[in-house]
Amino acid sequence: MPIVSVGGISVDNTISFVKGSQISSLTASDQLGYAIQPFIQDILNLVTESRDLGKAITQATQKHEKVVERLFDFEPSKVEETFSLKSQFLFPQKNPLLALQYGNNLYPRFLGKNGTEVIQDESILPEIQNLLYLCGRSDLTYNQICQQISDRMIELLDKLVKCSVVEEQPRPASGVPPETPGIFRLQHAALLYKTKTTGILVDPHLHSNYGIPRLSKDFSRAQLQGHVDAILISHSHYDHWHYPTLMLFDRETPIFVPKVPRASIMCEDMQTRVESLGFKNVIAVDWYADPVVVGDVEINVLPFYGEQPLVPEYSQPKHPELRNWGNTYLLRTEYYSSWILIDSGNEPEFSMVHVAEAVKQKFGSVDQVVSNFQPLSYNSIGIDLSSWGIDIIGNLLSNPQILSVTNQSKGEYISTLGPKGVAEICAIVGAKSCLPYADSWASIGEHSLHDRVLVPDVELELKKLGCSTTVVPWAIGDGYVTNGSNGGSRQVLLKSAIG
Ligand SMILES: [Fe+2]
Repeated sequence: MPIVSVGGISVDNTISFVKGSQISSLTASDQLGYAIQPFIQDILNLVTESRDLGKAITQATQKHEKVVERLFDFEPSKVEETFSLKSQFLFPQKNPLLALQYGNNLYPRFLGKNGTEVIQDESILPEIQNLLYLCGRSDLTYNQICQQISDRMIELLDKLVKCSVVEEQPRPASGVPPETPGIFRLQHAALLYKTKTTGILVDPHLHSNYGIPRLSKDFSRAQLQGHVDAILISHSHYDHWHYPTLMLFDRETPIFVPKVPRASIMCEDMQTRVESLGFKNVIAVDWYADPVVVGDVEINVLPFYGEQPLVPEYSQPKHPELRNWGNTYLLRTEYYSSWILIDSGNEPEFSMVHVAEAVKQKFGSVDQVVSNFQPLSYNSIGIDLSSWGIDIIGNLLSNPQILSVTNQSKGEYISTLGPKGVAEICAIVGAKSCLPYADSWASIGEHSLHDRVLVPDVELELKKLGCSTTVVPWAIGDGYVTNGSNGGSRQVLLKSAIG
């Protein structure tokens, strides 16, 4: 259809987020993490030389006196055993969202295509959410948006336009094949589950600065318009938990989050956070609770064990509530069933193997297992904190004695499933197929960084177990979709299905 132009402005042009745009958030806990990071980095550098954590803490303290005095406790005679973040920082009463930063990384910094919206009072957040949602819909013109927002939000909209975060441009086409049941692989840990009528988005990161910058082909919020009926959040690690992305969706969208008994430096109260952004339907239920049905998808909330900063030498956190609280999700539809294992695995007292046995008993076989295949070990994560998100500081400080063993090259303790654990789970639940994900960002059509090594590793482990599960080597943007009708239907790989 030709684009009609009125007074130089196309009436078909709508506001949407553009390529290269990014929004990120800064909380009080993030700020604390940035203040503490240099101190912890020095401890790690020193402990590598001396192999003596007490000595390393004492030496690093001399350089970071103010940080230590204000934030840490330890007994000078028993430094290694007693070193801890003060209780009020381990369990902060409040963790306000201090700022939203925005910009477009396709432009050099000197062009000033970036800005910061300082949040003086969190009561403004629902207004900002509404603005970002209206822009994300990609079906409203600038004027139509302005009619629905306050003067202050019009000012922010103008800044977003000026910084090339959003632009008025031809209305983008949807990137999702209609009425095609299946799973679609977005960036890193983000997945879109579809039936013919319902869409469920998992751990979304859109227009985020977390992945690889300047991807030649990436997803935009516009492509998902009309395809998201609920959002599932697995856990609060930053590669899975990105508030600015959530703010791009309708505030009526049900959002599932893990139930957090007590907010901590390790894991914030995700329900409170999402509600503060303006969302009205936030679901935080117990593991094994009765399923919640969205459209024609049954959502079962199951335990997330593993990925705790615990190692055999230091197997208990400073406090039992200092957990990386999370959910795994079993989705059941008339077309397929799929268990998303996220980054789960093993910890000294719990294992996903036990959950898999309970799943098999309660639900029978599961068609697909979708999991991070990477083996993550807190005692071999290395000492370069700059290579991790700022959330790793909170992880390490929940059990700071592990600072003495974070650079081991032998005897690592795998806290995720890794290839062996993934194969074991597939065997227990009788999975027909197994799909890798959550192991990095890549351009649409490309395989993520670690798949090439990890897919054969999982295949080998499955073979050792005599398990017939097929590993599906899908790329970013591919779908694993249902082909055929009920009874004769099967799942097949659909290349470059989305994007
Ligand atoms: Fe994680």
